[in-house]
Amino acid sequence: MSTEPVPAGTVLAGGVPAGAGPAMLTLNNVEVIYDDVILVLRGLSLQVPEGKIVALLGSNGAGKSTTLKAVSGLLPSEHGEVTDGSITFAGQDITRMDAAERVKQGMSLCMEGRHVFEHLTIAENLVAGAYTQKAGASSAEVLDEVYTFFPKLADMRNRVAGYLSGGEQQMLAIGRALMARPKLLMLDEPSLGLAPLLVQEIFGYIQRLNAETGLTVLVIEQNARRALEVADHGYIMEQGRIVLEGPAAELRENPDVKEFYLGLGDEGSRKSYRDVKHYKRRKRWL
Ligand SMILES: Nc1ncnc2c1ncn2[C@@H]1O[C@H](COP(=O)(O)OP(=O)(O)OP(=O)(O)O)[C@@H](O)[C@H]1O
Ligand SMILES: [Mg+2]
Repeated sequence: MSTEPVPAGTVLAGGVPAGAGPAMLTLNNVEVIYDDVILVLRGLSLQVPEGKIVALLGSNGAGKSTTLKAVSGLLPSEHGEVTDGSITFAGQDITRMDAAERVKQGMSLCMEGRHVFEHLTIAENLVAGAYTQKAGASSAEVLDEVYTFFPKLADMRNRVAGYLSGGEQQMLAIGRALMARPKLLMLDEPSLGLAPLLVQEIFGYIQRLNAETGLTVLVIEQNARRALEVADHGYIMEQGRIVLEGPAAELRENPDVKEFYLGLGDEGSRKSYRDVKHYKRRKRWL
């Protein structure tokens, strides 16, 4: 057996980025089937190292949201099931763990479309996010932390959530997810439907949360450019599998990623990765 040291930056078999530190979350060959017949994840493997930001990118229908639902334990409510492989969180096999228990173990999901309670105030929305919190800090303390991090939410604490702008609602959704004091925050397309300046603001918050509190983040995005700017590591998935991965800085320079995800092809014109035929003909990483 070879015991040679692994050069830095090398990706080991199984997709473990060398030198990335202990993985907080590991998906190993995960297969997901909906309604007993619809195969959506086809042996997906990825790792989220502790204290890092990982971006999961891919076009519509690739299975990104399904991946987060598998991790959060939300598949049963959608007639979905992990039929093969395993999911490990903080050293524990959680593949079949109940969703509420996973939140207690320290993971929090901000779902696509924000889903704030429209008729409740900001303060009430936040307190509702604390229901699964472990013993320890009181919800008043955690609420204070969230208000300190998002002063805008503090200023608007008595406003009804339904009247907030899209960006403010996204901030609230992130604040609510933080009320459970997660170790791992998962975000499903936080930039969806937001104007560029707000996208910048939201990603700025994500980056600061990671830098200032050490929070580990797994973020799904179609806005690949923004996501690869804040992430340490990126994975690109197509049709239920990872097709490309690497340090975010490397992915930003990869010609295929530039062409299909960043709209910076050599020909200069912006191409859409939704142009599946062209995409399949040209993609070189399979
Ligand atoms: N509850 C469900 N029942 C059956 N099929 C589903 C269900 N949810 C998702 N799918 C299918 O699984 C595939 C992946 O869906 P998923 O929502 O995970 O993709 P996505 O990468 O998040 O796409 P998008 O970028 O559009 O959000 C799609 O073909 C979708 O139709
Ligand atoms: Mg989705």
